[in-house]
Amino acid sequence: QAEKLLDQNIFLIGFMGCGKSTVADFLNRELSMEVIEMDQIIAKREGMSISDIFEVHGEAYFRELETKLLKEVGSCSRVVVSCGGGVAMRDCNVAEMKKSGCTVLLTACPETILQRTKDDHDRPLLEKNKSIEFIAELMEKRREKYEAAADIIIETDGKNKKEICEELVRKV
Ligand code: S3P
Repeated sequence: QAEKLLDQNIFLIGFMGCGKSTVADFLNRELSMEVIEMDQIIAKREGMSISDIFEVHGEAYFRELETKLLKEVGSCSRVVVSCGGGVAMRDCNVAEMKKSGCTVLLTACPETILQRTKDDHDRPLLEKNKSIEFIAELMEKRREKYEAAADIIIETDGKNKKEICEELVRKV
């Protein structure tokens, strides 16, 4: 089963704090899959944090950078891509991901998301309003697109990273 997993790109999608980076890191260590952290690459190329990109250039500019980077990733193979939480909101991004791999949606309830993100400071969308209500509202707005984009869905509440990754390997 791991061989099938290794034979394509894996795009981890889902809300901020759903565990994309944690799962990517685990797949890197356990299966030696190369990882592409979209936010990290964008921040490095722009020479500023994601929050600063939003502040200086605006969200639309950041979304264009995501789409451009995703097109580049399309020519890679056998990589795990930890996507920013907004990537699956654009249909062209979803089409791009499906061309070269499998999309795995990680989900978690708003309480879990708040718990996991409460001490982080580079998520501009959560910076001004880090509350269960706000997270629940944004999650609900995005739910349909996330689910439509997903080849596989994995619920992460109450599971550790090993369990989540084993489920991923089983389902891919
Ligand atoms: C965003 C999620 C963030 C980052 C940016 C916008 C979003 O990535 O790309 O702050 O729109 O959901 P993570 O999902 O890795 O936090």
